[in-house]
Amino acid sequence: MQTVHIDLGLRSYPIHIGSDLIAQRGLLAGHVRDRAMVVTNETIAPLYLDHTMAALGNVPSSSVILPDGESFKNLDVLNLIFTALLAENFDRNCTLIALGGGVIGDMTGFAAASYQRGVDFIQVPTTLLAQVDSSVGGKTGVNHALGKNMIGAFHQPVAVIADMHTLATLDERELRAGLAEVIKYGFIIDSDFFTWLEANLEALLARDAEATGEAVRRSCEIKARVVEADEREHGMRALLNLGHTFGHAIEAAMGYGHWLHGEAVSAGIAMALDTSRRLSLIDEETRVRGLKLLERAGLPIAPPPQISPDTFLQFMARDKKVDAGSIRLILLDDIGRSHVSADFDHAALHATLQHFAA
Ligand code: NAD
Ligand code: GLY
Repeated sequence: MQTVHIDLGLRSYPIHIGSDLIAQRGLLAGHVRDRAMVVTNETIAPLYLDHTMAALGNVPSSSVILPDGESFKNLDVLNLIFTALLAENFDRNCTLIALGGGVIGDMTGFAAASYQRGVDFIQVPTTLLAQVDSSVGGKTGVNHALGKNMIGAFHQPVAVIADMHTLATLDERELRAGLAEVIKYGFIIDSDFFTWLEANLEALLARDAEATGEAVRRSCEIKARVVEADEREHGMRALLNLGHTFGHAIEAAMGYGHWLHGEAVSAGIAMALDTSRRLSLIDEETRVRGLKLLERAGLPIAPPPQISPDTFLQFMARDKKVDAGSIRLILLDDIGRSHVSADFDHAALHATLQHFAA
């Protein structure tokens, strides 16, 4: 087991990464206060809920099983968690355990942020995307029909337990979607990691344990350092949203669940590369190099053509990455170097939207 520490003062926590960690006695239970409520979904429950409950040993524990899918990441389904907690008289000394991918993690985290004005929660991410990104950093929330992740809170978990063993049952398409967020880290901040990914992509697609463990550890280290520097996204944390302003528009415009989050992010990165090229921030060789890695990972490098430029702009204007009414974009200066800007020539953005809609 490897442990990456995220240092946020009183809100610091460990990110444990390794195989068979769910079953490891004491590890999960050691982070629980008086009682545990495991939140999971109908796909993950038959695979991992029994192991999780067994690992909790003598800790009084219950579970709540939600419907599976991004389309259920909403306030109505969130209420099922509150109902389960209240029906069983859970008090403030309880700990919620998010057993699942990013949808379960975001919803459980938001339930923990608001139940009785805030209780502890543990992230047990079971998708690659959740292990490298959503379980770390404390962003929690749900979607609204008018915008992705629009209702939520910052609430840090007390621990993250990333059990690599769970990735064995993950669907191929979901694995590839997770790779989009891994590749994102190389793009925004770490050219060595990008080069490492170019050399190790086949091993990652083949689920090689050593390569996957390394990718998860390096991703968590990058994310931990960024969140430590800017927990509430007043500055550099926004870099983690590379491709997301475009991607969130794709997810919302297509209807949640049709495009996977990682797929939408990949197409969004391709669009950010296009805008960065039009602004002469990167050369053509860099743009093509970036696209090639996404393509090799089996990820989309264009949005669905039916989304018009106007629809993109409507959703992008609602995204949280809007600064005083102007759309903020994460733009690339090179592989491994990026910046946030609201002050760019909007003709380049319009040209990108026209290009991909054509
Ligand atoms: P997901 O949670 O929908 O999981 C993908 C699918 O895989 C689901 O059907 C799930 O039931 C299934 N699954 C999960 N683990 C499995 C396993 N081990 N074996 C078999 N099937 C398994 O999707 P995701 O990609 O994990 O997360 C996407 C969500 O994360 C989006 O809602 C996105 O907005 C959010 N997100 C949040 C942050 C953050 O910082 N909070 C960052 C990135 C993404
Ligand atoms: N996934 C973006 C963030 O955590 O800030």
